[in-house]
Amino acid sequence: MGLVKDAFLYVKNLRKVYPPDILALDGLDFQMREGEFVSIIGPSGCGKTTLLKILAGIEDYQEGEVYFEGNRIFSNSDWRRSVIYQDIRLFPWMTARENIYFALENKDLGRKEAREVAERWMRVMEIDGFADNYPAQMSAGMRQKVGVCRVLASDPDLVLCDEPFSALDWTTREFLQWEILEYWQKNKKSVLFVTHNVMEAVYLAQRVVCMTARPGVVKEIVEIDLDRARWNVPRDSKKVLEASRYVARLIEEEVAKASQMERELGY
Ligand SMILES: Nc1ncnc2c1ncn2[C@@H]1O[C@H](COP(=O)(O)OP(=O)(O)O)[C@@H](O)[C@H]1O
Ligand SMILES: [Mg+2]
Repeated sequence: MGLVKDAFLYVKNLRKVYPPDILALDGLDFQMREGEFVSIIGPSGCGKTTLLKILAGIEDYQEGEVYFEGNRIFSNSDWRRSVIYQDIRLFPWMTARENIYFALENKDLGRKEAREVAERWMRVMEIDGFADNYPAQMSAGMRQKVGVCRVLASDPDLVLCDEPFSALDWTTREFLQWEILEYWQKNKKSVLFVTHNVMEAVYLAQRVVCMTARPGVVKEIVEIDLDRARWNVPRDSKKVLEASRYVARLIEEEVAKASQMERELGY
């Protein structure tokens, strides 16, 4: 598939330098169709977060073309492209419910409808039981659930995930993995999911984009041929394990390069 500017998401020859001279991305090409679930994996420091920030419009870049639904992205953020971070910051002076209401305020929903949407999502995410708690009164897992709920309730067209479940216990992690899969599948939404967990990358996505060590470019894109209804696919099925082994090998090569580079450069 050739790159086309009117693709859902189009990134061509993207180059990002942090001052004074840290080259984070150097000529990254990538595109995504509407309705896809794509994961991105690569060694630590290869520019994954940088890429997501550029796509979210909260980081600039020096060269390249970045288009979303035919419109150029350059330091212009928009709720239609929302990021789920590893450590979501909630407003500490607002309850869980108020944090979620707040996210819906800049949408074209009436007040009543916004509340209905928020309440429905809180039930789906099983956080209705602590809706009146403040962030300080919640566990890290609960806070992350509220944060994910806030993003999904605002119904973005593209959900950008930056290792969103990496710090969570397995039960919460698995719960949120199912929620994001269901959001994608039921609502025909598009998800770009950064993770350093090979099994997670493979199990969730239709394509896994493997990045090189810094400066990050795309090393290889691995197509994952699994049933869209993932509840029909055991995590230890042959296809999942084979694809995971393949992706793991690609990443191990890059991790080795990254640590070699660290030794040579001293950082
Ligand atoms: N604000 C910044 N200023 C300078 N260097 C940065 C900044 N943010 C990230 N970097 C550097 O850019 C590279 C890519 O970082 P990042 O995108 O966070 O990687 P990843 O998310 O893949 O771990 C790293 O070498 C990192 O140290
Ligand atoms: Mg990162």
